[in-house]
Amino acid sequence: MRGRFITLEGGEGAGKSTMMERVAGWLRVSGQRVVRTREPGGTILAEKLRDILLDRNNLLLSGKAELLLMFAARAQHLDELIRPALARGDCVLCDRFTDATWAYQGGGRGLPREDIAVLETLVHGDLQPDLTLLLDLPVDQGLRRASRRSEADRFEQEPPDFFGKVRQAYLDRAAADPERFAVIDASPGIEEVWAQIHAVLQARLAP
Ligand code: TMP
Repeated sequence: MRGRFITLEGGEGAGKSTMMERVAGWLRVSGQRVVRTREPGGTILAEKLRDILLDRNNLLLSGKAELLLMFAARAQHLDELIRPALARGDCVLCDRFTDATWAYQGGGRGLPREDIAVLETLVHGDLQPDLTLLLDLPVDQGLRRASRRSEADRFEQEPPDFFGKVRQAYLDRAAADPERFAVIDASPGIEEVWAQIHAVLQARLAP
């Protein structure tokens, strides 16, 4: 039987890294082999595409090229890492996946939904995450948290209005597919956020 495919999503500063750590720990303790990965990236080639996508000097990168590079990185990641791991029965825990494309390139950039849908079908029409944890928080709070980290990448330089659209697009996707998504309020402290996620994991994944 194929392993479970779990994704974490959210805007900037939502605390995904900390929660990835905790979710991976919970899965291991519950007896699963866990492959932890991220997008864009996750393999040597896809990480090279990530560098291009996040490099703040790439001012001329067009919206369409950005979309195609996201899916190019994803195609490589799926073929090289995600599909083989799931086929082995491992649980794949991925920091962002195609919901991020719907949110950032679709919501934020306003690229046509039909284009995203075509690429999604081409790259992984047969495969969707089993569970997606959406860490949701107000844009200004997320940007304040993110600004305390390293230098802003190409996406983090976008204006607050862009992230408002990203947030809304994520929430719309979650509302359209409540069976796959769990929306987590990421605005309180770490322990409170973890308590919500832990409850979701127990309810949806505990044997
Ligand atoms: P990260 O910093 O959370 O790892 O994500 C990298 C950036 O890439 C983040 O700003 C969101 C963006 N992104 C997209 O715009 N589209 C996508 O499909 C993915 C996976 C990420």
